[in-house]
This record gives sequence, structure tokens and C-alpha cells, in this order.
Amino acid sequence: MTRSASPPPEATDIDLVSVQTMPQTQTTRARPERWLVCRPAVSEAELAEYYAIRKQTFVDEQGLFDGSDVEPVDADPRTLHIVAICEPAGEMVGVVRCCPAEDGTWFGGRLTVVAAYRASRLLVGRALVRTAEELVRERGVRVFLGHIQLPIVHFFEHLGWRKVGDPGVFAGIPHQLMLPAWSGEPTSPRSHAAGGQPRASP
Ligand SMILES: CC(C)(COP(=O)(O)OP(=O)(O)OC[C@H]1O[C@@H](n2cnc3c(N)ncnc32)[C@H](O)[C@@H]1OP(=O)(O)O)[C@@H](O)C(=O)NCCC(=O)NCCS
Repeated sequence: MTRSASPPPEATDIDLVSVQTMPQTQTTRARPERWLVCRPAVSEAELAEYYAIRKQTFVDEQGLFDGSDVEPVDADPRTLHIVAICEPAGEMVGVVRCCPAEDGTWFGGRLTVVAAYRASRLLVGRALVRTAEELVRERGVRVFLGHIQLPIVHFFEHLGWRKVGDPGVFAGIPHQLMLPAWSGEPTSPRSHAAGGQPRASP
């Protein structure tokens, strides 16, 4: 586990922030006092914490899954389990998953920020989405999609994503298929159709 023994910092106390991704580094402010590092989990301990954060949101908080939100695609060696670490404390503050589907299409999903860090000056959600986009593009992915919960559609539009088709029911609740500006159109009717059943849930 990478959690600090000391209490977590108040996210609103953060005045100077940098965002780093691996292998590239993005610095959004000079003289960072606290900063984010977004990258794939690098150890079993980090993966365990990654899954715990996912479970906290999608099983315990939202009730989308019963008991566990882990799927077969999580065991695919190509799947990216991306974490956001708040440094220098080393605290994991958010996660997102990117996984391959049919026809070279990849899906982003399981995006969540630890509750205390949502809407904070760290902009954790934005950093995770940008890192996910960068890492899949580095892998040559041309079509990148996400099934987005309706209350979060504006967040993704704010980040330059756009809607594809009409909302459909996915994991039991309405979702909107969306893609970033650089992505090609979905190639699979199953991922495009409202209420379709793509391999990975959101
Ligand atoms: C959705 C979520 C990931 C956003 O993360 P976050 O760290 O709070 O978002 P950020 O602080 O990075 O926000 C980035 C920008 O989007 C804006 N934004 C955040 N949430 C938004 C929303 N629901 N609607 C519109 N804009 C939003 C912010 O104001 C910020 O704007 P700015 O760049 O002009 O300052 C977070 O709220 C969360 O974990 N929610 C619960 C899990 C969930 O529902 N996941 C989505 C499953 S599809």
C-alpha cells in the first residue's frame, strides 16, 4: 500500500500542482508543492489499492455491481490499470481502466476519484482521462470509447469528448457512448448500439 501514515492533505489546500504521466512528463505549474503522477500500477500492492478504490465507488457507493466489479478483461495483459498518485505523500487518489475490445477498439472505464479529492484543485479526473488517452494513443489505438454515466457527460464534453448515438442502459443504468476528438468512429455495431453488450462494462 502506498498510503501515507499521516492524515491525507486537504485537497483544497493545494495551490501549486503538477501533473506527470509516464513516460512523458507534463508540468502544469512551476514550483509544485504537491503534484499528481498518473501511470499504470506498478506492483501487486498498488493493484490491490487500485481495485479497492474501484470497489469503493462502483460496488459500495453506486451499487452497480454486486460484491465485485472485476471482469475477465482485467486479466488481459494489455489492459491498463492507471492510478493517480498525489505526491510527495504517495497517496492514491484516483483510478481509471483502459482495455481492448473488438476490432482494435479500446474502452476507457472505471474512472473514479477518491471522494475527498473530487472537484479539487488537483483536477484528478482530468489528469486520469488525459493519461488514459495518451497511453492508448501510444499503443496505436485509433478508436477509443467510453460508456459514460449521464451525470458525467458534461465532464467529458468539457474535456473535448463528444456523444455517439443515444444513451443506452449499461450495467443497469443509462450510459452515453462517447469518444475523444482524436478517436475514429466505432467499428462494431455492438459497441455503437444503445443497450449493446460490449466486452467491458463502464
Ligand atoms: C467524474 C469524476 C471522475 C470527475 O473527477 P474530478 O477530479 O472531480 O474532476 P476534475 O476536478 O478533474 O474536473 C475537471 C474539469 O471538469 C469539470 N467538472 C468536474 N465534474 C464535472 C461534471 N460532473 N460536469 C461538468 N463539469 C465537471 C471541473 O469543473 C473541471 O473544470 P475546469 O478544467 O474548468 O477547472 C469524479 O467526480 C468521480 O470520481 N465521480 C464518481 C465516479 C463516477 O461517477 N465515475 C464516472 C463513471 S462513467
